[in-house]
Amino acid sequence: MDKLRVRQSLGLKGEIRISGAKNAALPIICAGLLTSERLTLTNVPALRDIKTLSDLLCGMGAKVNFANSTMEIDASDINNYTAPYELVKTMRASILVLGPLLARFGEANVSLPGGCAIGARPVDQHIKGLEQMGAQINIEHGFIKATAGRLKGARIVMDMVTVTGTENLLMAAVLAKGTTVLENCAREPEVTDLAECLIKMGAQIEGIGTDTLVIHGVDKLHAANHAVVADRIEAGTYAVAAAMTCGDLTLTNARPDTMGAIIDKLSLAGAKVDLGNDFMRVCMTGRPKAVDIITSPYPAFPTDMQAQFMALNTLADGVSTLTETIFENRYMHVPELCRMGADISTDSNIAIIRGVETLTGATVMATDLRASASLVIAGLVASGITTIERVYHLDRGYEQIEQKLGRVGADITRLTD
Ligand code: UD1
Repeated sequence: MDKLRVRQSLGLKGEIRISGAKNAALPIICAGLLTSERLTLTNVPALRDIKTLSDLLCGMGAKVNFANSTMEIDASDINNYTAPYELVKTMRASILVLGPLLARFGEANVSLPGGCAIGARPVDQHIKGLEQMGAQINIEHGFIKATAGRLKGARIVMDMVTVTGTENLLMAAVLAKGTTVLENCAREPEVTDLAECLIKMGAQIEGIGTDTLVIHGVDKLHAANHAVVADRIEAGTYAVAAAMTCGDLTLTNARPDTMGAIIDKLSLAGAKVDLGNDFMRVCMTGRPKAVDIITSPYPAFPTDMQAQFMALNTLADGVSTLTETIFENRYMHVPELCRMGADISTDSNIAIIRGVETLTGATVMATDLRASASLVIAGLVASGITTIERVYHLDRGYEQIEQKLGRVGADITRLTD
């Protein structure tokens, strides 16, 4: 298994080009299943999760071409409606094929994802919404077996804000007969990006960007071209790296307008942040100030940036509190950061971080995607060498992380067994 070796690298300086968002690309690729015509996507990041999803679609009979950030999806010949356990267990977002398959073919057979490292993560809201649209759904042998005639428009109120739940129901509704009203929707920029792509494919959607989406079903969708929105979490991660290393990074091809809460907390931590429409520059001098953070659905502070800001707070001047409200088990980076000299205690979903003056390099274990990112940026400031094991988590979500950081001055090497 690959490892990353990170040596202390203070003062990162230069430009990093931000990739397309994994969490937008995944549902949008699944939207390719909604039409027999070609969907062409640009700004698609070359990541392990994207490859997993592409393999899943190919297994169903789709033709997928992916080169130079451009993906062409031809789902004219789908002959298998199954998402097998082997793929779903490696990537929970595979659940996103459920809505499109059911809407276009009236049949889907998707392995239940089960729990994951950061919590139980049920999919009951996806199932409840599809049932309200007329689907018959049974759980058999670990699979969600769903059948339907043409789905019917319905009024659906989600019990909690769920990103992939909103996306699945939105994709189901665009081909349903009649109007669907989805309430308590996720408003994440990735949901908005999916909705904008669906509109280019001929869908009729009102309320984009709000918590109520009104979808007037159409008989079919057609070919379209769409550029995937920039990855706000990748940009946020490199912004924290700039702040933590007292660096000066300009993040290009970014979308600061989707990053309000992140930019706010960076500024409160003492970073100087300059913004343009498609770039942001983050500079820092001196020790960060401690910032309290509560994770919540967009537009509040994203859970996917919690671990990185915890890393920043470990070196802060003062004590900070971090409250994780989205996932129940998302503090697995805490013991790893403590092995590097951080002073963090947790009580249920609250972490208290007492800033220390220095971190020291150690061998640490990456436990999930964003936890891994926090260990990399902690490694950049820790004295000596940090070795991060199980780096495959990072490859699920950060395109060319060692090259991108290497070009701005980080000493970071991949060690392949
Ligand atoms: C998505 C993101 C993930 C991010 C998360 C929260 C993708 C591919 N992944 O995950 O990076 O961390 O949003 O912003 O976009 N829940 C239920 N029942 C459901 C659905 C969700 O109880 O049917 C709960 C979950 O357990 C969790 C909360 O709702 O506690 C939010 O989860 P959700 O927004 O669905 O996360 P994902 O869409 O899986």
